[in-house]
Amino acid sequence: MDIDLKFIVTTSRRANPAIRAQTKQKATTWGLPYFERRDDSIKDVTGDAKAVFIFDNDGLSLSVNQSRLRFSLGTAALRLKSLARGGSDTLIQAGELQAGDRVLDATLGLGRDALVAAHAVGSSGHVLGVESSWPLFTLISEGFAKYQAGNERATVQTVFEDSRRYLATVEKASFDVVILDPMFTVPKRSDGSFEILREFANHISLDPEWVQLARRAAKRWVVVKTDKEERWFQSEKLERFHNGGRVDWFRAAPSS
Ligand SMILES: C[S@@+](CC[C@H](N)C(=O)[O-])C[C@H]1O[C@@H](n2cnc3c(N)ncnc32)[C@H](O)[C@@H]1O
Repeated sequence: MDIDLKFIVTTSRRANPAIRAQTKQKATTWGLPYFERRDDSIKDVTGDAKAVFIFDNDGLSLSVNQSRLRFSLGTAALRLKSLARGGSDTLIQAGELQAGDRVLDATLGLGRDALVAAHAVGSSGHVLGVESSWPLFTLISEGFAKYQAGNERATVQTVFEDSRRYLATVEKASFDVVILDPMFTVPKRSDGSFEILREFANHISLDPEWVQLARRAAKRWVVVKTDKEERWFQSEKLERFHNGGRVDWFRAAPSS
């Protein structure tokens, strides 16, 4: 686990004793320093650390340079609303996702695709999200744990690992669908909280080997979201499924 980055764990100023106790416990579990916050500003708490994990009544957020990243449904909320009104969703269409499916999201990020997949596969299905950035994995895992309590759709189980390594260890055809959505090759304009994602994310590019590992693990489709079509897509059987403007969707059938 790469946590040389110097993180500090604290609470909001007005956190009650229960939240303070839970936060202290988390800091111990993560092996990070705990800061007992009174009236201190986040700048004071940060000192020369890279980032601060802050627990409050709404859960966990990550603060860097006065910006905050917090788990939220974000674009997943709009997609779920549209599905509830009878609309369609490109991920569900490309993966032909259905109730009971097992889905591996190999690039969990903020968990929005994983949440939409969880909706599609329902409580009889299973969604596993793999994230190789420890701060992002931690933030999203805490967010899911809070959000999923009492929710009927499939839970998203999270794994801290490089998904290329993870895919290499799983049995052939162990997931119906594998999702690959690496970071954009050309960063788009974004707000402070997205900058935090970009700062901590793994920026490794999609390559033939990663797609081959995913095709070996998939039973139905490997769904790829990308801002750049590579020349090798054809040899890896990746076919364009949808032109989404900012992002293009491709999919490949499993390897035989
Ligand atoms: C563009 S984001 C994915 C967004 C996600 N699809 C969503 O809906 O929120 C890419 C994420 O994949 C992670 N990532 C990149 N390469 C990875 C790898 N080899 N294994 C696991 N996670 C990886 C990055 O750290 C980043 O959080």
